Amino acid sequence: MAGSSFWTTCRSVVRWALWAALVVFVAGAMWVAVSISVDRPVTYSDIVEHFKYGSIGSEPGVSLLAPVGGALPPYWVFQALPSVCRDKLPGGYASLGFVMEPGHDLPVGVGRRRRLGIDQVGFNCALCHTNTVRASPTAAPTIVLGMPANTLDLQKAVQFVIDCTLDNRLTADAVRGRLPKAGGPSLFERALLRAGLIDRLKLQTLALRNRIAPLLDGRVPDWGRGRVDTFNPYKAVQFNWDLAALPASERIGAADFPSLWNQQPREGMHLHWDGDNTSVDERNLSAALGAGVTPVTVDHASLQRIRDWIWTLPPPKYPFAIDQTLAARGASIYAQYCIDCHADARFREGVKTGARVGLITPIDEIGTDRHRLDSYTAVFADNQYGLYPDSTYRFSHFRKTDGYANQPLDGIWARAPYLHNGSVPTLRALLDAPADRPSAFYRGNDVYDQADGGFVWTMPTLDGRTFFRYDTSIEGNGNGGHLYGTSLPPDDKRALVEYLKTF
Ligand code: HEC
Ligand code: HEC
Repeated sequence: MAGSSFWTTCRSVVRWALWAALVVFVAGAMWVAVSISVDRPVTYSDIVEHFKYGSIGSEPGVSLLAPVGGALPPYWVFQALPSVCRDKLPGGYASLGFVMEPGHDLPVGVGRRRRLGIDQVGFNCALCHTNTVRASPTAAPTIVLGMPANTLDLQKAVQFVIDCTLDNRLTADAVRGRLPKAGGPSLFERALLRAGLIDRLKLQTLALRNRIAPLLDGRVPDWGRGRVDTFNPYKAVQFNWDLAALPASERIGAADFPSLWNQQPREGMHLHWDGDNTSVDERNLSAALGAGVTPVTVDHASLQRIRDWIWTLPPPKYPFAIDQTLAARGASIYAQYCIDCHADARFREGVKTGARVGLITPIDEIGTDRHRLDSYTAVFADNQYGLYPDSTYRFSHFRKTDGYANQPLDGIWARAPYLHNGSVPTLRALLDAPADRPSAFYRGNDVYDQADGGFVWTMPTLDGRTFFRYDTSIEGNGNGGHLYGTSLPPDDKRALVEYLKTF
């Protein structure tokens, strides 16, 4: 009797335990399913905050097994890296030229989003299209929205993130030891940290490094501050091309960051430096791909907000004094030598629209460095057409061209250094014959040179930032060509520079 009741009790305990195990398992599975199905960006109702800190969908995504996309690790890891590898980046992210604002945990140009259960970070448009200007080394910097990110060393930033992620000192414990006391990661993220998240991250980072190695290991000249190679990373990351197998001439394509304001009047113009596309929407979407968005992760609603805002964003007014009499004299010189390619009544009331604005000047005529032009090929254009299978977003306006675009010069004072490869530091220097332009200069300072129109280029360091020494004798960095106005007398050049400050 006693035995049978013992067995009955045992059976019910086992049954009970099995049920309990099942409930725990189902609850656990549901918890994981709910955690990884969340796709929630940190949002901002103010468009300026959205532009600076919003997510455009460039965080890694797709699936836990094969995340692809952005070059950045999860939020908690990104925040820990500068302290884990302090020797590799003594000045923190600011020393790489990221713009940091008080009261924000991330730099301008980095958005945050929870995806696949993990708080992720990714680049947005402001990363390369926003920067600071100041009157002197002791003045406070002013943020100028839409201006080229003149101080940012993107190549070094990517290199640092990759190197430190692969560093032995980056471990789950190292990340855990640097978490804030309050408001740290979710339970799910803590569980992932225990379950080998860092090892997976290292594997993915290694794969990414191998794909873009030819761009980071000194085989191509450094981009330096304020530049990125527009299409070569795209060939490697989006199309998985073997960069090492490309002709050498195609592997160098460093381009200066352009401005982002006044997009509406740019519709229909051949833009991008080589004029390869006439559609603003396609340029925006293709830019998003450059930021790390993939056709699967892209956040079209977020991009639409940015598109609508930059459509009419005005260029920044020159913030220093202008000699109006001198500028008025410059206007007539401009009308004589520059109007044909650069002036447009849609940008400036009262000027005549030049016949060639928004068109392309052939490379043999403009004579500037041809590497950026050659880095974009017809085969590459064909591949772009296949990117977005959904016909709403499919590219159809990209074309291989044979020169560089005659672009409007709105806000040109803030777009230094000049030309597509940023090879000429100031407006004044652009009006000198190539042999008289600086053959080497420092890039990345945000202190403005009011005399010559551009950023101070003679200072190698400032406040813990080491500027990039730009050497025009290096392949892709040539500062020749664009000879317009170079034989004017010095007084006329002064007047022309003064006039250009009013744009
Ligand atoms: C990684 C840096 C980077 C990011 C991030 C970036 N851009 Fe750009 N953008 C560039 C560069 C470089 C060019 C010039 C491309 C070229 O012609 O070589 C450019 C060109 C453009 C142009 C054409 C400008 C012109 O007048 O020729 C537009 C429009 C643009 N970007 C919009 C955007 C938008 C919108 C975003 C965010 C979705 C964005 N960009 C994100 C680097 C970036
Ligand atoms: C025949 C057409 C043409 C004429 C005339 C012309 N330009 Fe240009 N300009 C261009 C082209 C094309 C570029 C881009 C070249 C490149 O980046 O390699 C350019 C670039 C520039 C830039 C640099 C833009 C930037 O964002 O870096 C400035 C500034 C400029 N031009 C000013 C002038 C001035 C001032 C004059 C008159 C003295 C003038 N241009 C005459 C075609 C022209």
